Amino acid sequence: MVFYFSGTGNSRFVAERIARSIDQEAIDVTTYTKEKKTPMFTDEGVYVFACPSYMSAPARSMTEFIESATFPKGARAFFIVTCAVSMGISPRVCSELCEKKGLEYVGAAQVVMPQNYIALFKMQSTEENKKIVKDAIPSIDKIADMIRNGEKTDDKVFKSFEYALTKWVRDVYYKGFMKTKKFKATDACISCGKCAKVCPLSNIIMNGNKPSWGKNCTHCMACINQCPKEAIEYGKGSVGKTRYKGPESCLG
Ligand SMILES: Cc1cc2nc3c(=O)[nH]c(=O)nc-3n(C[C@H](O)[C@H](O)[C@H](O)COP(=O)(O)O)c2cc1C
Ligand code: SF4
Ligand code: SF4
Repeated sequence: MVFYFSGTGNSRFVAERIARSIDQEAIDVTTYTKEKKTPMFTDEGVYVFACPSYMSAPARSMTEFIESATFPKGARAFFIVTCAVSMGISPRVCSELCEKKGLEYVGAAQVVMPQNYIALFKMQSTEENKKIVKDAIPSIDKIADMIRNGEKTDDKVFKSFEYALTKWVRDVYYKGFMKTKKFKATDACISCGKCAKVCPLSNIIMNGNKPSWGKNCTHCMACINQCPKEAIEYGKGSVGKTRYKGPESCLG
């Protein structure tokens, strides 16, 4: 089974390509979390989890899904972390999670994909994104081969203080910075409701004819990047930056 969590489509794209290659189904974990279902899986095959790197480790929407689910004891787990630069401490976070869940950690592989964190980071141009997606395809296919052949990944070993510091920064960021106060729809908004529809956490409601953001936000950047009118801003952080429309928009 191939599970994914994805804000702007990178991890979904990777999961779907891998799933096709290993003849499995790609499943969006929010189909479980939105319905508040406690998932129980009995399949004895390998479990593949694909999600973005948020602050150097797998997005919590994925790790929390895994924590909440039940898997057969000793089932194998392989992680794919999409990122703009590096998956950071993801391998260790994933192997510790496996230990806690009684899963056998097989590996964690990164796939460099276009940057989507428009609120904070420099965005790449559409041309640059096309090249990044094109270059990612062979590495995705290589990962599919690794999964098929049961190969383990060669993980980077982190010094304890480096690992602890990254974890601490991540915790602080989740607690203090993943807020929605700075999201705003400008006068360019045409009230289409797409932002509400694409939010994986159902955190946006249409209040009259404008979107209104709740508190359950993981800063996935789907709403702001996918607005057809580029009518969403995140304070001054997003002004004038290229919106990322997802991997499919980079192909062809
Ligand atoms: C909240 C947030 C934190 C991020 N942190 C990192 C990071 O630490 N390292 C990195 O290389 N990319 C980082 N990124 C970029 C994403 O990991 C990358 O664009 C990813 O492929 C997005 O996947 P998605 O389209 O499936 O949501 C971050 C993006 C967001 C929104
Ligand atoms: S997606 Fe953009 S245009 Fe559509 S409702 Fe949301 S802010 Fe308005
Ligand atoms: S409200 Fe937050 S979680 Fe929902 S789409 Fe926007 S950034 Fe993502």
